[in-house]
Amino acid sequence: MGKVITLGLQKGGVSKSTTTGILAYLLANDGKRVLVVDMDSQGNVTELLTDVTANEFIGRSIYEAVIYKDAEKYIHKVSDNLDLIPANNFLALYSRWIYTSKMIVLGEEVREEIMPYKGKAEEQLDILLDQVRDKYDYILIDTPPSLSEQTSSALVASDYIIVLYECSKFCYSAIPNFMESLEIAKEVSSHDVEVVGILRTLNDKRRSDSKVFNDAIAEDYPDLVFKTIITRKASTGRLPFYGLSDNPELNDALSQFKEFYQELVERIGE
Ligand SMILES: Nc1ncnc2c1ncn2[C@@H]1O[C@H](COP(=O)(O)OP(=O)(O)OP(=O)(O)O)[C@@H](O)[C@H]1O
Ligand SMILES: [Mg+2]
Repeated sequence: MGKVITLGLQKGGVSKSTTTGILAYLLANDGKRVLVVDMDSQGNVTELLTDVTANEFIGRSIYEAVIYKDAEKYIHKVSDNLDLIPANNFLALYSRWIYTSKMIVLGEEVREEIMPYKGKAEEQLDILLDQVRDKYDYILIDTPPSLSEQTSSALVASDYIIVLYECSKFCYSAIPNFMESLEIAKEVSSHDVEVVGILRTLNDKRRSDSKVFNDAIAEDYPDLVFKTIITRKASTGRLPFYGLSDNPELNDALSQFKEFYQELVERIGE
């Protein structure tokens, strides 16, 4: 059974999508079968993995997959071991569907359809992933920067959560709220979902302010913080531009994530 890992925090620009894409790439290159599920309407991890704009996937995304209860049909093959269920702007209609059962069918002619569901709202992604869990070793879910329906669905479907912590005060404040949301998700989830670690990201080597935030979170969650601290690096920043295939600086962009990868694999087991 594939292990489902959500990368999240209800805070923008903390490296959720970048880390999801890189982790998926490293796992797949290590011979693991990986599915990435994009639960963010920005479609950033979709673009990172496919090198095309997320709008290419209009009508062929996670929005349709969950509502039509069909995972296989909406899987896009990225490489031998790496699959993706993409997202685009229209995932912003997800909450509307959850609350009204109304979906927008996107094709040559745009129309509305009533698509009811059974069970709880937050379980719908979990129910979908049950169809493909045994096809993969890992399923990674990228989430939006808010505590939305997409985020709670991802938490409920997960076995593990990686919290992304960009070293700043606002991020520090976001963590307890996120942990609280996880406790609420646990009440619905059929999985023994747990935080596998907090990854400190986007540290600027030229600035000393990161240290106080790095230390504060390590003091609060000594067993959860990964030892690896990810720094801001030009080649990593350029990754969405040059992509994950045919990128001459790929090794440099990914190098600092390899230690994090080792720590993660040690924590969750092979
Ligand atoms: N280690 C890094 N070094 C340099 N740039 C980085 C690094 N990690 C991420 N970035 C850049 O920082 C920005 C934010 O990263 P990313 O989009 O992954 O964050 P996010 O948490 O997914 O954002 P959002 O909340 O909008 O979904 C992006 O422009 C990304 O390319
Ligand atoms: Mg993102």
